[in-house]
Amino acid sequence: MRVILMGPPGAGKGTQAEQLIEYYKIPHISTGDMFRAAIKDQTPLGIKAKEYMDAGGLVPDEVTIGIVAERIKKDDCKTGFMLDGFPRTAAQADALAKILSDLNVTLDGVVNIEVDDETLLQRLTGRRICKKCGATYHMVFNPPAKEGVCDKCKGELYQRSDDTLETAENRLKVYNDQTEPLIAYYSEQGLLKGIQGKQDINKVLQDIISALGQ
Ligand code: AP5
Ligand code: ZN
Repeated sequence: MRVILMGPPGAGKGTQAEQLIEYYKIPHISTGDMFRAAIKDQTPLGIKAKEYMDAGGLVPDEVTIGIVAERIKKDDCKTGFMLDGFPRTAAQADALAKILSDLNVTLDGVVNIEVDDETLLQRLTGRRICKKCGATYHMVFNPPAKEGVCDKCKGELYQRSDDTLETAENRLKVYNDQTEPLIAYYSEQGLLKGIQGKQDINKVLQDIISALGQ
């Protein structure tokens, strides 16, 4: 299964990807997670990415395309992969088409999780993430059993530095300008699966699996 998970910041891509990669047994390729790992390790990529991410903007295309191209060519992606947060610009979508055609493979679907802006801002500002295992929670919508502690691994929960209201609003603006046009691009190719994202997390998961098939 070769799939793209699309949707605005906070739509639930990461939350759904956690379950979907188990279900389909495919690797999760999240450009946001890759950049955050590089920031943590203070690599040159991380140092460059941080300034764009903290402002709520996009990391330049040439950098982002390069890391995805490298990742997708690895052996574990031979039978499939789930792209989360990539592509985000027309140039990234064109580059992906070229990478896939060079590998002689095609996409099975593009899932677009739809949620209104007001809900997105509530989700982003209330999100908490486990430092140890990366599991995602929400203070109100999906709280852990014990405040500040991961249910799965007892790790400490933290708030992403780009989840402040001001940066989140900017991310939504950037999404509307640069990423939203890709919905039409994939729709024209007959690949788009629109999913109502303002439902219970498990219902969203079921809808995605029904749309993609086994
Ligand atoms: P990235 O990490 O990709 O962030 P994003 O797209 O902004 O998406 P999020 O991770 O914020 O949201 P999500 O949809 O995964 O939602 P989640 O499941 O966590 O990118 C970060 C930055 O990196 C970008 O701003 C950019 O600078 C850079 N970057 C990344 N990719 C790039 C690219 N391709 N090109 C250039 N730059 C790039 O859910 C959110 C919250 O809602 C959680 O608290 C969750 O518990 C809750 N929630 C989820 N589902 C539900 C539900 N159904 N009901 C109630 N609550 C829910
Ligand atoms: Zn954890």
